[in-house]
Amino acid sequence: MTGPTSQSIHELVQTALDQLKDLDNAASLDQWRVAYLGRRGHLTQVLRGIAQLDVDQRREVGVLGNQAKRTLEESLVQRVDEVAHAQLEKAFTGDQLDVTLPGRPSSIGRLHPTTQIIREICDAFNTMGFNVVEGPEVEWDHYNFEMLNIPQGHPARDMWNTLWVDHPAPSDGRKMLMRTHTSPMQARVMEAAGPPIRVIVPGKCYRYEATDATHEWHFYQVEGLAVDKGITFADLKGTLYEFARRLFGDERRVRFRCDYFPFVEPGVDMSIDCFACHGEGTGCRVCRDSGWIEIMGAGMVHPKVLARVGYDPNIYTGFAFGLGPERIAMLKYGIDDIRLFYSNDLRFLRQF
Ligand code: PHE
Repeated sequence: MTGPTSQSIHELVQTALDQLKDLDNAASLDQWRVAYLGRRGHLTQVLRGIAQLDVDQRREVGVLGNQAKRTLEESLVQRVDEVAHAQLEKAFTGDQLDVTLPGRPSSIGRLHPTTQIIREICDAFNTMGFNVVEGPEVEWDHYNFEMLNIPQGHPARDMWNTLWVDHPAPSDGRKMLMRTHTSPMQARVMEAAGPPIRVIVPGKCYRYEATDATHEWHFYQVEGLAVDKGITFADLKGTLYEFARRLFGDERRVRFRCDYFPFVEPGVDMSIDCFACHGEGTGCRVCRDSGWIEIMGAGMVHPKVLARVGYDPNIYTGFAFGLGPERIAMLKYGIDDIRLFYSNDLRFLRQF
């Protein structure tokens, strides 16, 4: 068998390049590539044959063979480029493509309405000196209930429909749960730092709840806590009144009524005057004839809660509050069903 010669390589390259210059589409260019440069291609076989040559020929022909390979590869890249350009030009002059058309705008995402309202709430409290902290969504019974003056068997546990977590080896009852409110962070924050404390805690909560227009099984809360020497109920009222005015406007009126939460004493709920009927009440669907809309629970931190985290209740006092941001957003934007927030309907979400 005779191996390749300088002459045969030269001829091969010539033939290949002659063919290449007439090719004008991607498919034929690829066939050409396979025919010459593919694993069984002409040139590949020639290069393999070089190994059988005498040593002195091998060097000379080998150099030529490698050159040939490079030439074919580079010529192919160049031809592919030319063909692509020619096709674009043809499309352009043939009115198939208008490169002067403005591009399609890429759609920009937006913040979820809950995120937006939480940021607004946090901003309002930030400027009053509250820091933002976050806590775990899976919580211990200890923090969710015990530390908040709600011992095992206490009837107040019925206020929170609880999703328990099957924790491995629950030797002494179910201890782990999806937190039912953000209040456990009151105890966690006080344990971690000494007074004075001023924090707000935005976060997700979970309840074993049948859903309807005003109830979701998961929702957000924003907890607030201020503890220091000499904090009074007047501080609570002033802070929350200022908050209501920042979110709902300067002319907003507020109302505090007695309410019960085991971890505050006294406990209150706070309402704002109804924006729909301007506090008139009668015949108003939004406030159900009352003229007022409840927006949060609050109160002075219970002395037992302070004592449990090692604060002396004779020296320190504080106030706490908890509000539902979805509810605030519903009031602010006139949304009538809380389930809309988490049903992922873009027609709803795009409105914010
Ligand atoms: N954690 C209470 C709830 O979920 C709200 C609350 C917080 C009430 C702080 C008083 C003080 O209903």
